[in-house]
Amino acid sequence: MKKIRLAIVGATGLVGRTVLKVLEEKRLPIDEYVLFASKNSAGKKLKFMDRDYIVQELNDLSFDSGFDYAIFSAGGSTAKKYAPIAVSKGCIVVDNSSAFRMDNNVPLVVPEVNPEEIKNNHGIISNPNCSTIQAVVALKPLDDKYRIKRIIYSTYQAVSGAGRNGVLDLESGIRDYMQNDSNFSSAKPTYKLQKFNYPIFSNCLPHIDVFLENGYTKEEEKMVNETRKILKRPDLKVTATAVRVPVFNAHSEAINVEFENDFDLAELKNILSNATGIILQDDIENCIYPLAINASGHDEVFVGRIRRDYSVDYGVNLWVVADNIRKGAASNAVQIVERMLKKG
Ligand code: A2P
Repeated sequence: MKKIRLAIVGATGLVGRTVLKVLEEKRLPIDEYVLFASKNSAGKKLKFMDRDYIVQELNDLSFDSGFDYAIFSAGGSTAKKYAPIAVSKGCIVVDNSSAFRMDNNVPLVVPEVNPEEIKNNHGIISNPNCSTIQAVVALKPLDDKYRIKRIIYSTYQAVSGAGRNGVLDLESGIRDYMQNDSNFSSAKPTYKLQKFNYPIFSNCLPHIDVFLENGYTKEEEKMVNETRKILKRPDLKVTATAVRVPVFNAHSEAINVEFENDFDLAELKNILSNATGIILQDDIENCIYPLAINASGHDEVFVGRIRRDYSVDYGVNLWVVADNIRKGAASNAVQIVERMLKKG
């Protein structure tokens, strides 16, 4: 019988390492794995599936040996260069970057939301932006039932979403605070910032990804466009403010939703509690609501603080939290591969 082979591109990065972890947990029916990264990591050993794997340098010939699937977590420029090469050799690529997400020929997939799109691929399937993934898992069952009219996103995003250097900036800020008389206002840090323009410790940065001409950031634009594509609602009214906060891992989002149709709050909560991939944590009497520190390490999307928005006819406010590295990237990509394996 033919062996199933999976390439993991960007295996040494924050997302790539989590892809390895999720694959170890899932033990999918895959016969061979090959780990790729840049030439800086070539020859490095990574422990995976109870043995040492040698990381290979990704190059033009990497896919010549024949792969069924590849999970790319190596950024947009690597994906743009190498995903088409992989596809030309018969491999299906699940890409974590934003390179192909809005391409009409590329499905943008969250398995709980639009798994039917997987089969429409022409070799590349995009993994959506982390903030969008957790939002649409919560919104899809509500759109199906009450039809969404408008969405307002306000995000509180963890530094892990900015990669290793984002994590380092928060760690350096904490160290600096402990060593320098707990100064609340270290606008000029004594350490070198690796990722952000300003200290992230003791701060909130209303700036994720680059600014666009219209004053929004690219992260905010991604949330708008990707939500429309995944929900198949091209004209849906969506707006977003994306903010980086000093949390190590798991993104939180305040989502304000206005519906076309009226709803019963108890029924709405019931729909969410029965939806795939959602854990309802909505018990204010006992101070139970989603928290980043609880969501971290899990693949589910946690939803709570559900309350009617009395400022419009049919509106609701939600607090939605998920592990941005797992469900927002690595686990979502592995779940897509898992679905393809099941379909054969
Ligand atoms: P490397 O570790 O060799 O630089 P992160 O987003 O956490 O920084 O991770 C990015 C991942 O993408 C790393 O595994 C990195 O490998 C990999 N990567 C970056 N550039 C390339 C490239 N040109 N070819 C292959 N992998 C790359």
